[in-house]
Amino acid sequence: MTSLIGLINKIQRACTVLGDHGGEGMSLWEALPSVAVVGGQSSGKSSVLESVVGRDFLPRGSGIVTRRPLVLQLHQTEGGTDYAEFLHAPRKKFTDFAAVRKEISDETDRITGKSKQISNIPIQLSIYSPNVVNLTLIDLPGLTKVAVEGQPESIVEDIENMVRSYVEKPSCIILAISPANQDIATSDAIKLAREVDPSGERTFGVLTKLDLMDKGTNALEVLEGRSYRLQHPWVGIVNRSQADINKNVDMIAARRKEREYFETSPEYGHLASKMGSEYLAKLLSQHLERVIRQRIPSIIALINKNIDEINAELDRIGRPIGVDSGAQLYTILEMCRAFERVFKEHLD
Ligand code: GDP
Ligand code: NA
Ligand code: MG
Repeated sequence: MTSLIGLINKIQRACTVLGDHGGEGMSLWEALPSVAVVGGQSSGKSSVLESVVGRDFLPRGSGIVTRRPLVLQLHQTEGGTDYAEFLHAPRKKFTDFAAVRKEISDETDRITGKSKQISNIPIQLSIYSPNVVNLTLIDLPGLTKVAVEGQPESIVEDIENMVRSYVEKPSCIILAISPANQDIATSDAIKLAREVDPSGERTFGVLTKLDLMDKGTNALEVLEGRSYRLQHPWVGIVNRSQADINKNVDMIAARRKEREYFETSPEYGHLASKMGSEYLAKLLSQHLERVIRQRIPSIIALINKNIDEINAELDRIGRPIGVDSGAQLYTILEMCRAFERVFKEHLD
């Protein structure tokens, strides 16, 4: 059976091709569930994403590196080697993940110029691997408090508005990243998550940098659910440090180190099975599948609405087969019908 998440991925790609990425007005995209990663600059967002994927592929550096949303679709394959594909270069298979990182930077610059500007036009990347779970993740620019040189003053607000436009959708699952070595009371991620999801039903709290907490302190209050309670339990994470990255500690070694950290920790040992990036990936995939299942009826309704609108448009332009606009509409119509069929099968 086609996985539900795989299906949603196809629709998401189609939406991007058609220029529908959650802007004004109607949007099928709006109804499609996904997971958005939110947090302050350097809170560990990119590190968490890479751990969940199990590959190094994101541009990094200090300051604002992520300047366009990155829609990352993970596809679990039966076997074979890992590869990546960008929607803007569909015929090119990337097996070298350093090249993926470069392409993300280049493609960011292509739209924003080399300036530090941001753009809300997403970059769409698919990763195929036997080692990933089916999941759609969105990396967003880090929330920040001040503009840096070369950036307009409005950047702080622009970033917040862009991030909000993703996380305010009821279909968005929020991965709210807070570093454990800072006071959670000041966490931008939690602040924004609370604003758009007051009941906490679609927020997953992630605490990074547990290894960097001051000696003698720990995060048990949060991880055991006594403070900053959300409906889902918090997940603690230990990503690679900058020193690890400089030493080229690879992802497999990093995951092993993280697991050891929790298993041997005097404070967190009893929570070890519910901590770490691998656990987080499974948790998110299961939750996403559940959310998609719940939303199938509303997605079908939206697809039907699209079919009606396209039919009306085709009637208006007189169904000119072969003419560009008509042909494209036909393609979309066919696609919508196909999706509707498959979704209905899943409902039965
Ligand atoms: P982003 O700006 O939110 O995407 O943050 P990054 O993932 O780029 O991380 C910023 C810096 O913090 C990098 O130098 C990481 O190596 C480091 N870092 C992130 N998470 C952890 C962690 O759990 N432990 C340690 N020691 N360092 C971390
Ligand atoms: Na960064
Ligand atoms: Mg980042």
